[in-house]
Amino acid sequence: MPGEIMKRIEAVLKQQEMLCAETTAGPCGFVVFGASGDLAHRKLFPGLYELFRRDLMSQRFYCIGCGRSAYSDEAFRDRIRDSFRETVDGLDETTADSFLKHFYYIAGDYADSGLYQRLCDKIHELDNVCGVGDGVRIFYLSVPPFLYGDIVEKLGALKQTCPTAGQWPRDKVRLVVEKPFGRDLESAQALEDVLRRHFDESQIYRIDHYLGKETIQNLLIFRFTNSLFEPLWNRNYIDHIQITIAETLGVEHRAGYYDHSGALRDMFQNHLLQMLALVGMEPPISFEADHMRDEINKLLRALRPYQSMQTPQFFVRGQYGPGRIDGQEVNGYLEEKGVAKDSTTETFVAARLLVDNWRWKGVPFYLRTGKRLKRKLTEIAIIFKHVPHSMFRASGLEDLPPNILRFQIQPDEGIYLSLQAKRPGSKLCMSTLDMAVDYQQGFGVKMPDAYQRLLLDCMVGDQTLFTRHDSILTSWEFLKPAMAYWQSTNDKPVVYAAGSSNFEQARKLIQARKLVETDGREWQEL
Ligand code: BG6
Repeated sequence: MPGEIMKRIEAVLKQQEMLCAETTAGPCGFVVFGASGDLAHRKLFPGLYELFRRDLMSQRFYCIGCGRSAYSDEAFRDRIRDSFRETVDGLDETTADSFLKHFYYIAGDYADSGLYQRLCDKIHELDNVCGVGDGVRIFYLSVPPFLYGDIVEKLGALKQTCPTAGQWPRDKVRLVVEKPFGRDLESAQALEDVLRRHFDESQIYRIDHYLGKETIQNLLIFRFTNSLFEPLWNRNYIDHIQITIAETLGVEHRAGYYDHSGALRDMFQNHLLQMLALVGMEPPISFEADHMRDEINKLLRALRPYQSMQTPQFFVRGQYGPGRIDGQEVNGYLEEKGVAKDSTTETFVAARLLVDNWRWKGVPFYLRTGKRLKRKLTEIAIIFKHVPHSMFRASGLEDLPPNILRFQIQPDEGIYLSLQAKRPGSKLCMSTLDMAVDYQQGFGVKMPDAYQRLLLDCMVGDQTLFTRHDSILTSWEFLKPAMAYWQSTNDKPVVYAAGSSNFEQARKLIQARKLVETDGREWQEL
């Protein structure tokens, strides 16, 4: 009955409209360790400002910055205001002023228990002044990872900021931890032990900012709300999958951290493997944190294990040498300030992985990430199988190009499906066309930064887009043989020229039909 159908459609549209309204956060006391650092000024404070500007957080909030540099409250506010002029588009000075009135600063050494006592006193004072008594307290670790243990232990010992003392209900106290979560399985486990001594898993929010990107979240909506693609999402229709995170930036001013980390630890163990899990996982029972995270971990556990000596068959490492990007000459990694002259840290890593489960058996997943590449591009490309038979063989058209579905995560966020189409002209004139969905154009809004999403979710207590400890340990366990191989053989990464889009060894990794019959592929162009 058309009337009935219309009513149902209207009800669905109304329901969708309601879901577009953000959940607003209640009263909140926010403590940032590492408040004078880069991350806090580039991402956290601008993210909080946007939530404030959009009325998504309560006026009953305060933010206490802790750091080693000495600032008065006023100087701290001035510094944030200055950085906003660079980080916030269309800054409204009046809104910024009323936002910054909620900011306070405490200087001190993280190893000094006195710092935590002063912090505790300040929290109690501001809880009263700002009316946050019934709200949540968030402790945000935006410090180098070697400080995590000390800070968490000291928070625990204080008995007032930590729920073990029972002052506040457990679900009102949250801890946010930035990656890296350890540098290998053992250190990740050790970090976990410290965190879990004082906080429950339900209180720990481990940030992998890729999960906060709109386009990554859209992957889930795309997969699990459209009936069109899910039936094709398996070994019967998909030939292989490529996931790329290419950056033009080099190590910048982070050599101190990066030279002890490298692309595998910095990008692969977290962002790339989480993306792989979202592409490959089974449909969760619901969009609830643990249902999602169960499926993510299940997928990671299905990655085919390998022996350490087999590492070169599965992984390739590279390090950028001097080159040109956008017409500019740039230094090689070894010439960067703060990098050891004989460093063997990789700035590029590519891998061919197999997922041993019913859905993906035999479908290779090719993953790569690198710094100082030709262009910035984060993309997931699903390459479908070729048509089984070409009816144009007689005309020489044997291998018709496959359909490719691309999720372009950044820049130019969108979804592109390449199709073969008849071109105007002779009967057999064909070419590849893209069906394109451009998010920005389609929805007419600018993509919010990932941190806004994640900060708001943390305030409202939604852990869906935060990494759970089991998937972190599973990822490290999977990478252990490769890391052991590189260490024990003193393996040196291949040098590639800055500005390259690929290099021979990475190409060979997926071209040779050595292990998997379905290899013999090319990387997608950057
Ligand atoms: C971070 C890495 O997690 O992600 C950086 O530590 C990297 O090395 C950055 O540059 C990339 O993030 P985005 O959002 O710019 O792709």
